[in-house]
Amino acid sequence: MLKQNIKNLLKDERVAKARDIGHTLVFLDDEMIDKSAMQSHQREDGKVKRIVKSILKKFRPPHHSVYFDTLESSTNEGETLIKFLQGFEEGSNILNIGSLSKKIDGSKGNIINLDISFYPNIDIVADAHDLPFKDASLDGIIIKNVFEHLRNPIVVLAEIRRVLKKGGLMYAKIPFMQPFHAVPDDYQRYSINGIFEFLKEFEIVEDGISVGPSSALAWFLIEYLGILFSFNTERGYKIAKGFFSYLVAPIKYYDIFFKNKKHAQKLASAFYVIAKR
Ligand SMILES: C[S@@+](CC[C@H](N)C(=O)[O-])C[C@H]1O[C@@H](n2cnc3c(N)ncnc32)[C@H](O)[C@@H]1O
Repeated sequence: MLKQNIKNLLKDERVAKARDIGHTLVFLDDEMIDKSAMQSHQREDGKVKRIVKSILKKFRPPHHSVYFDTLESSTNEGETLIKFLQGFEEGSNILNIGSLSKKIDGSKGNIINLDISFYPNIDIVADAHDLPFKDASLDGIIIKNVFEHLRNPIVVLAEIRRVLKKGGLMYAKIPFMQPFHAVPDDYQRYSINGIFEFLKEFEIVEDGISVGPSSALAWFLIEYLGILFSFNTERGYKIAKGFFSYLVAPIKYYDIFFKNKKHAQKLASAFYVIAKR
């Protein structure tokens, strides 16, 4: 989305303080931007490592979900999000909070990518606890795999309510059964009842399992075996996890047996919710 169009949605006093860097508007001082993620993105691998990585990538098992939210992966979006995005009209503005570097297509609306880290494809570098947007300026919010990484999710939810128009929609994907994963940190998990309580000021339009119990089990096993065979070193941990992720990932396909099980939510890896302001 064009920077000028984004600026029209922002509070005037915040625009005055923003730094224009390439196509990105930066609202954080350098020391507040999460550098670890940026550095790992910018790090150039050696030639051999690049070749090995590209071969492994070809055979990499699906990153997350199979069968529940059909084939969401690091390159595909799940079908619930695609359907959600198709509901927006041309010219509507949808903020993707904690977008990472991924561009999401599939909407006639404008998707604005915001993150605390300066990844490629980011439109706004800001902290979700203090969104630079005007009140009731946005038609939609995407917040996917982010609530667990927030110091104070209640503050962020209040910010989302503030910037969403009345009747505006939020698509949230929220973790339940997942091992610790710091991006850049990791603070909490939510049961389905915890999510309903958390979102009690919104109207829940739709909810369901986004990543099933078998994916949860696979992820726990990869971590479990990664730690066990790490030889207590960071490198050992990474190699072991990489190895076991290929070996263990097929477990995810057992989710086909859980798809219609009403108790599946007791062990779901993540839920999705579409909620109306
Ligand atoms: C696990 S990633 C999820 C990425 C993407 N939404 C997805 O589902 O593939 C979490 C993202 O949230 C971002 N993040 C964490 N804390 C944030 C904050 N306070 N404000 C904005 N973004 C934040 C991280 O930098 C990271 O890109």
